[in-house]
Amino acid sequence: MLSDVMETSEGVDEAEVLHYEEMEEESDVSPADLSELLKEGTKESHDRAENTQFVKDFLKGQIKKELFKLATVALYFTYSALEEEMDNNKDHPAFAPLYFPLELHRKEELAKDLEYFYGEDWKEKIQCSEATKCYVDRIHQVGQHEPELLVAHAYTRYMGDLSGGQVLKKVAQRALKLPSSGEGIQFYVFENISNAQQFKQFYRARMNALDLDKKTKEKIVEEANAAFKFNMQVFDELDKIGALLTEEAQDGGLPVHDGKGNLHKCPYYATKLGKGDASCPYHIAMAMLKQPTMQFILAACIAMAAGVAAWYVM
Ligand code: HEM
Repeated sequence: MLSDVMETSEGVDEAEVLHYEEMEEESDVSPADLSELLKEGTKESHDRAENTQFVKDFLKGQIKKELFKLATVALYFTYSALEEEMDNNKDHPAFAPLYFPLELHRKEELAKDLEYFYGEDWKEKIQCSEATKCYVDRIHQVGQHEPELLVAHAYTRYMGDLSGGQVLKKVAQRALKLPSSGEGIQFYVFENISNAQQFKQFYRARMNALDLDKKTKEKIVEEANAAFKFNMQVFDELDKIGALLTEEAQDGGLPVHDGKGNLHKCPYYATKLGKGDASCPYHIAMAMLKQPTMQFILAACIAMAAGVAAWYVM
């Protein structure tokens, strides 16, 4: 119930609970409300995000465990930045009404997921990818120089997590055979929100109550579209890494040259993340072998070699 949410929220009183309930019954949103402007203004971006290869594969349950782990790493760096800036701006009038650390913040949950996947020393095993770094840099820039746009980043992530994110949780649990007790998917579990639909309504009302002029609202919608774009760049990066992962990775083994090493030590992986300049012949060969044309050429070569060998023996 929403009242559960209210009890744990800072600066929220009973009057606002009643106000919210009245508002929900009337459902009187105006097209000029920020929530409506954001919903309409990011529709195309949402469609594009849903249709990225990474998200489509994920929805079909076609996600390798190693890739899911890297996606969790990307989320950890993203939410660390977002929540740091939200903490810094918790008293700023353009953000204060949207500050719900107990209900929304994900950093601690992501840390639990990473500990589950990588072990106690997870912090030493993870690094921020190039695409994630761009996203993180923008969040810090907004938090420090344009805090009135922070709502765009909070909206894009948390509203999404409370919507499509709940679908992804079930898919991940099933596809990766994660324990039903919830290890590895804490990110998707909002312990302090008992009704996501109601909370989203409440959050929309809070966004609409912000004192913003038309120009600032337009800038917020623009920033939300930029946030979607940053997310899509992270998905595309993950998709490219996923194409290089070996089949062993599907079962949770590390994607390595011989099934035993560490992906992060592969120089090609480092190049993809902008941290090196060498290329890994093993991963290039494996990627090429995934192409049907290359498979055909290889089969033809083997057949020819067998023919020559048979002719020679005879
Ligand atoms: C797995 C693919 C996805 C599915 C199935 C999905 C599904 C949904 C659904 C059903 C809603 C409507 C919820 C409601 O009105 O209460 C929604 C809203 C939303 N989603 Fe997604 N989504 C997906 C991916 C994403 C991604 C990748 C993002 C951004 C990173 C995102 C951000 C949002 C936002 C911000 C909203 C709130 C829209 C609004 O009411 O203003 N979604 N999503």
